[in-house]
Amino acid sequence: MIKCQFAPPPHKPSPVACLVLPVFKGKTLSQGAQQWDADNNKALSTAIAATRFSGRTGECLITSTGSQPHFVFALGFDDKAHLSIESIHDAMKPLLARITPLGLTRIAIDLSDAAFSEELALACAEAMALLTYRFDTYKGKKADEPPPPPMQDVCFITPHADTATRFWQKHSGVMDGVFVTRNLVNEPPNQLYPKSFSERIKQLEKLGVEVTLHDQNALKKMGMHAMLGVAQGSAYPPYMAVMHWKGGAPTSSKPSTKPIAFIGKGVTFDTGGVSLKPAGGMWEMKSDMGGAGVVTGLMHALAARKTPAHVVGIVGLVENAISGTAQRPSDIVVAKSGTSIEVLNTDAEGRLVLADVLWYAQETYKPQCIIDLATLTGAMVIALGHEYAGFFSNNDALANQLYQSGQNTNEKVWRLPLHKAYDKMLDSKFADVQNITNQRSAGSITAAQFLQRFIKKDVPWAHLDIAGVTYHEKPLALTPYGATGFGVRLLDRLVRDHYES
Ligand code: BES
Ligand code: ZN
Ligand code: ZN
Repeated sequence: MIKCQFAPPPHKPSPVACLVLPVFKGKTLSQGAQQWDADNNKALSTAIAATRFSGRTGECLITSTGSQPHFVFALGFDDKAHLSIESIHDAMKPLLARITPLGLTRIAIDLSDAAFSEELALACAEAMALLTYRFDTYKGKKADEPPPPPMQDVCFITPHADTATRFWQKHSGVMDGVFVTRNLVNEPPNQLYPKSFSERIKQLEKLGVEVTLHDQNALKKMGMHAMLGVAQGSAYPPYMAVMHWKGGAPTSSKPSTKPIAFIGKGVTFDTGGVSLKPAGGMWEMKSDMGGAGVVTGLMHALAARKTPAHVVGIVGLVENAISGTAQRPSDIVVAKSGTSIEVLNTDAEGRLVLADVLWYAQETYKPQCIIDLATLTGAMVIALGHEYAGFFSNNDALANQLYQSGQNTNEKVWRLPLHKAYDKMLDSKFADVQNITNQRSAGSITAAQFLQRFIKKDVPWAHLDIAGVTYHEKPLALTPYGATGFGVRLLDRLVRDHYES
C-alpha cells in the first residue's frame, strides 16, 4: 500500500521527484499552479500556451524545471464548478499511467485551490491507493525487463491537512479491505476453495473479529440441504464462515443493539454443475465467490478502522462442480427454513446457497437489517453492464441509504423492482418453489424473488447483484484488469453513515 500524507500550503515538499499541479478547463490554472507559475518564470503557463493541453479531465502535460522537484505535471480536472468524486477518480488514472512507467515513485499533488474540498482531497488519496494495486503472486520475475516500481509516496498539499490526516489513519484500513477482496477474487480456484478461503477468513481474528467456521457435518446437523446440494458434486467440502464484530455491541450502560448482517455468495468456482456452462469465458467463474470476497474485505475494513457498530458477516463457501455425485436438474432439496426447492437448473446455485445462509443469519442473529451480495445472474450484466450494481429491497429507507452511499463513494447502485407477479413465476409443480422460472425474461428479478422467499416478514433486506461489477476483463477508473473490490467502500460508507453508535 502506498504511503499517503497530507500537508498544508504553502508547502515546499521535501525532495519529490514530481509535482502535480491541477489545471481546469480552458487552461485555467488552479491556485497552487498559479503560485508555482509565478515563482518559476511562468514556465507552466508558457508550456501550456504552446500546446493543445486544455485542462480536460485526465489530460497531462509534463515539463521539467531543472531543479527540485525535477518534473512538473499539469493535470486536467475539467470544470472547476463541477468537481466530483467521480471526476477526481477519472483524472487520477491517466496521471498514474503517465508517471509510473517513468519510474517516479514519490510525488506531491497540490490541492490548495478552494475547489478541492476535504472530501475531494481524500478522494484523490483513495484513487491513488486503489490504482496502485497489483496481483502478481504467480508471475515469474523477468530479470531483463523488470516492471516499473510501484508508486510509494504521495503528498497531498491541502488546507484540510489535519483533518484529512486523522481520517486517513483509519480509512487506509478500508483500502486494505478492498485489497483483501481483490486478492480473494483474483486467486485461481485451485488455490482458493472453501477450506482455504475459510483459513483466509480466520486471519481476521488478528483484527479482533470473532470467526466461527461451520464444516460440512455442522451444516448437515443444521439442515442446510440447499447449500449442501450445490456442494455435493465437488471434491472440496463446503464451509460456512461467520465473522462477528462487536463494536458498539451491548455494554452494561448501553442497551443491546441488533447487528447489521452482511451475507455473501461464495461459489469458489461455478461450472454450472450438470446444467454445464459453455466453455467460452467459463474461467471468469473463479470470481463467483465475489459476494463472499466483499463481505470478508468489508469485515477487514470495519475491524481495521474499529467501527463502533455491531456487524456480522456470513459467507456460504462451496464449489459448484460436475461429477457423478453432483445434483441433477429435478432434484428436490429441503432448505433450512423447511421450504422444499425443486432444482430445475443446477447453474442457478447461488440462490440455493444464499437461501440457507440468509435463514441461518436471521434465526441466529435477529439482525436489524440484512444485506446480501452475490454474483447472481448473467441477466444483471446484460441489464446494467459494468458501471452500476443492481439491487432489490423490501424497505425504502434501506434502499435510499444504499443509493446515497453509492453516490458518495462512486460505487453506484440502481434499484430494480420486486413484485408478487414475478414471485408467482417461481411456483413449482412438485415442491414449494423452483430455482428458475420457465421463461428467459426478468432473470435478475426472479432470482431476487427467490431469495425473498427466505427473508422473514418485517426484516429490512437488500440484495445486491454484483455480477457485472465484480470482475473486469478491461481495467476501469480505479481498477486494473480483474477483481474490482466493488462493494467494500460502498458498504463501509453505509455503516459509517447509518449504523455506528
Ligand atoms: N454465477 C452465475 C451468474 C454470473 C454470470 C455471474 C456471469 C457473473 C457473470 C450464476 O450462478 C448463474 O449461472 N446464473 C444463471 C441463472 C440461470 C440458470 C437462471 C444465469 O445467469 O445464466
Ligand atoms: Zn451458476
Ligand atoms: Zn454462480
